Amino acid sequence: MKANVTIHRDFTISQIDDRVYSSFLEHLGRAIYTGIYEPGHATADADGFRGDVLDMVRALNTPYVRYPGGNFVSAYNWEDGVGPRESRPTRLDLAWRTRDNNHIGVNEFVDWCKKAGTKPMLAVNLGSRGLDAARNFIEYCNHPGGSYWSDLRRQHGWKEPHNVKLWCIGNEMDGPWQVGHKSADEYGKLANETAKAMRLFDKSVELVVCGSSSSNMPTFPDWEATVLDHTYDVVDHLSLHMYFANKEHNTLNYLAQTETLDRYIQSVSGVIDYIKAKKRSKKNVTISFDEWNVWYHSNEQDKKILEGDDWPDAPHLLEDIYNFEDVLQVGSVLNTFIRRADRVKIACIAQLVNVIAPIMTEAGGPAWKQTIYYPFLFASLYGRGTSLRAVVDGPTYKADIASDVPYLDLSVVRSTGGDALTFFVVNRHLTESLDFSSALNGFPAARVVEHIQMTHPDLKAVNSAANPDNVVPKTVGGTMVEDGALRCKLPPLSYNVIRLSV
Ligand code: AHR
Repeated sequence: MKANVTIHRDFTISQIDDRVYSSFLEHLGRAIYTGIYEPGHATADADGFRGDVLDMVRALNTPYVRYPGGNFVSAYNWEDGVGPRESRPTRLDLAWRTRDNNHIGVNEFVDWCKKAGTKPMLAVNLGSRGLDAARNFIEYCNHPGGSYWSDLRRQHGWKEPHNVKLWCIGNEMDGPWQVGHKSADEYGKLANETAKAMRLFDKSVELVVCGSSSSNMPTFPDWEATVLDHTYDVVDHLSLHMYFANKEHNTLNYLAQTETLDRYIQSVSGVIDYIKAKKRSKKNVTISFDEWNVWYHSNEQDKKILEGDDWPDAPHLLEDIYNFEDVLQVGSVLNTFIRRADRVKIACIAQLVNVIAPIMTEAGGPAWKQTIYYPFLFASLYGRGTSLRAVVDGPTYKADIASDVPYLDLSVVRSTGGDALTFFVVNRHLTESLDFSSALNGFPAARVVEHIQMTHPDLKAVNSAANPDNVVPKTVGGTMVEDGALRCKLPPLSYNVIRLSV
C-alpha cells in the first residue's frame, strides 16, 4: 500500500497554540493524594510533593494544568482548601463518592505548578455555588493585598498574588450527573453574570465557558448556541470534552473515532460562527478542548466505589491501564488538534496522574510512564510552531462512523524558529505497511534528523510498575529525503515521529 502526501512551506493552517498540550488534575481518586502529593514518600520534597512524579511532569512541558475539576468542582468550596491544614474540613465529594481532607487546595496547587514548570487553569463552581464564590476566589488568588480576600491569602502565607489568568466558568454544566446541573438558558445567564463580575475584577483574564460534555449529548449543539448567545461578548473559549473507548474490541472502529472528534470541532466552529454573525461581533471565540483521552478500561472496576456506600479516601478510581492500541488513538487525537489549530487553542489531556493518566504511581512505591505518555510527550516537544496543510492521497477503510477513514493519519508542524519540520504519522492498517512519501515543497535543504517509532506485536501490551519499558519508542533507520521527497516504510499499526531539519 502507498500513501503520497504533499505539503508546501507556504500552505499553512495556523500557528499552534502551545496550550493544546495542557493537562488536568482533579480531586478524584489518587490524582492528588498519592499522585502528586504523598508526604512521607521516598521522593517527596519538603512540601510533600512526589519528586518522581514532578520529574515526569516536567519532562512533558505541559503549559497549563486544569484544576480542581471536573465533576468535583461543581460542589467544591474553595475556602475549604486554604488556611492551616489542621483546621481544614473533611468533606464528602458527591461527584466521586469519596472523602477529601482538603490537605491540598489552591495555594499548594499553585506551588506544585511552579515546581512542575506549568501554570494553573482554575475552574470555579457554577453547580452548587455561583457568582459570589467565584468573585471571592479570583480576588483571593489574584489581588496583591489590602482587601479582605487578598489579605486572607497573605495571612495564609502566600504574600504574592498567584496571577491566574485562565479560568473555567464551571464544568460540564450540560450533564445531568453534574451537581447543580442547569439548562442551557439557566447556565448561560449565570455564566454571563459570573464572567462579567470576574472581568470587572480583571479585564485581562481569559474565560472558558462550558460547551457540551460530548457530541452525543441530546442537547448538543443547541447548548452551544444558547450558551454563546448569552455569553459571547464576555468569554474567550468554549469548552468541549470527548473520551474514546474500544468497548466492542474493534480496532478499526476504535481508531476511526477521531473522525467524530473532527466533525465535533467542525460543527461547534459553525455554531460559534453563527453566533458571531448574529451578534455582528468582530471577536473570535475559540475552542478549549479541556478534557480528552481514552477512558473505558477501568469502568467495570469503578462501579464498586461509585455505587457503594463507603466514602473512601483517595480510592483507586478511573485507573485505566493503557495499552499499545491507545498509543495510536492518542497520537491521532493530537494530530486532529494540530490539524484544527485554527480553532482549538487549548486542549487538556484528562488527566495527568493516576486518573485516566499518562503517569501512574504506587502509594509508597514507584511511578511509571503509561504507553500514552509517549505520543503526548512527542507532540508537546516537537508539535509547537505552525500547522501545515497536508494533502493525502492514500487508501481508506469503511468504519461504523464513516465510509472513508484514511489508514494514514498525520499532522505536519514547522517549528517556531522555522528550522525543523516534524511529521506525526499513524498507520492504522492492521496488517499492511504503508510506503510513505511526502513532497517537501519549499524545503530544499530538508534532511532527516530522526525517525522515532512505536510498534508492538501485541496491541494489548501495557507498561506496569514491574515492567515499565514494555511499550516504549525506539529510533529506526531507513527514512530518507530523496528527490525533494521524504520516504519511508510505515509498519502496520505504528505511531511515528519523523523529524527533519529544514
Ligand atoms: O475526567 C473525568 C471526568 O470526566 C470529569 O470529572 C468530568 O468533567 C468528565 O465527565
